[in-house]
Amino acid sequence: MEAIKAMKSTRIYILCAVTLFLFSNFFIIRTHRIKDYPVEMLEKNYTLDELTIKPESLTGWKRRHYLTRNLNQNQEVRIYITKGDWYTEQDMKRLKYKYDGTLANCDIPCVWKKDNWINWIFRGLKTADALFCVNSPNLPKQKGWEGQKFIEYSLEISYIPGPFDIFVTFKETSDVPTSYIQMDPNEWRKKPPFNITSLSPNSTFISFVASHLTEFRKTWIPTLQAHIPVASYGTVYKNTPWDSECKDFSWSNLKNCVISKYPFYLAIENSQVQDYSTEKLWDTFNLGVVPVVWGAPNTRSYLPHPKSAIFIEDFPNVESLANYLKYLVGNETAYLEYHQWRTMKTWPEEFEKKAYMSRGNMECNVCQEVARLRVVKNLTDV
Ligand SMILES: *[C@@H]1O[C@H](CO)[C@@H](O)[C@H](O)[C@H]1NC(C)=O
Ligand SMILES: *[C@@H]1O[C@H](CO)[C@@H](O)[C@H](O)[C@H]1NC(C)=O
Ligand SMILES: *[C@@H]1O[C@H](CO)[C@@H](O)[C@H](O)[C@H]1NC(C)=O
Ligand SMILES: *[C@@H]1O[C@H](CO)[C@@H](O)[C@H](O)[C@H]1NC(C)=O
Ligand SMILES: *[C@@H]1O[C@H](CO)[C@@H](O)[C@H](O)[C@H]1NC(C)=O
Repeated sequence: MEAIKAMKSTRIYILCAVTLFLFSNFFIIRTHRIKDYPVEMLEKNYTLDELTIKPESLTGWKRRHYLTRNLNQNQEVRIYITKGDWYTEQDMKRLKYKYDGTLANCDIPCVWKKDNWINWIFRGLKTADALFCVNSPNLPKQKGWEGQKFIEYSLEISYIPGPFDIFVTFKETSDVPTSYIQMDPNEWRKKPPFNITSLSPNSTFISFVASHLTEFRKTWIPTLQAHIPVASYGTVYKNTPWDSECKDFSWSNLKNCVISKYPFYLAIENSQVQDYSTEKLWDTFNLGVVPVVWGAPNTRSYLPHPKSAIFIEDFPNVESLANYLKYLVGNETAYLEYHQWRTMKTWPEEFEKKAYMSRGNMECNVCQEVARLRVVKNLTDV
């Protein structure tokens, strides 16, 4: 009898262990947070300025994160999402957690949860370190406690203002500037450039996907089409059906699937606003495609290389741009020059900064910011 009991409990024990193992593996998957700090950062002494003055360089950000991690002494940062929008539909799916419930790819213990009824019952919202809203506020009338932070996250130009303490936007001037880069750009090194050998300058070699008819798109796309065919898939000037082999994909994969079938993509943003570059620019690099850009006036300052994109504004007229693209399609050597950056050993710091302060690292960077404010308050409270 005792032996059977013991066997049963052993079995349960093994079952639990196996379950836990599978569960934990499910949640711990490869991370892409840049972890290597330069040697000079191992310096233990620091000045308060390094924690309070917003860094401009990549090294400055890494130093700030390094100091915050050390001074935070492994205290948890708990952040609840109270307004999710598109973020909870797409981005949260890529998050991986350790079995203690903190984010797997973060150097400080970061609890990152979507609000649910359990939080209301256990009053998690009241004690959370910060409440996180996407695009517009969904906040209690009062803070749960004095030091609680309200966070606004938006990568779009228009958002609804609210009583926020921390801004996480595409703007370099925000508290946690965040680019649209969704992955580790080192992956782009492995992506083969589009193979143009089977194309002729008469082929359709450029694609366009947009669902918003802006002033610029409205007038400019037809003028380009007067010179070269444009495969347009979105609702704006649609002229090409979705490929059947792409059809079953989710919206962003569907888009990327068709974009990858042409050597050029028209990366035309909704507006020309400082720092505003979306997936229209960054995703092309992952697809082995060259973007033809109309967007943020400072786009060039943060590219992986000056010759990684083509700018509409560099041509005196649409015809000369069309002729140049035709020339590239007919000259593989010249086309491949736009892909040489992929194999370069180092990339410019401004680009590396965009990669570090990116959508793919956003959650950890936000937890870092909340921890930093806590650490600074601790250091300056007398
Ligand atoms: C750290 O302190 C030492 C001795 O006080 C000093 O020589 C060194 O420059 C300091 N390093 C930094 C980064 O402040
Ligand atoms: C803040 O200060 C208290 C008291 O000095 C200390 O116990 C705590 O660990 C500090 N926390 C942080 C994040 O520095
Ligand atoms: C490009 O495609 C051609 C034929 O379509 C093929 O012969 C060639 O090997 C390909 N080049 C690369 C780099 O894959
Ligand atoms: C492209 O089209 C023009 C005009 O139809 C034609 O004369 C030319 O031979 C074509 N070139 C190629 C490479 O197919
Ligand atoms: C093709 O491109 C290469 C590299 O830019 C250039 O040196 C060469 O002259 C071009 N060939 C033609 C036929 O234009």
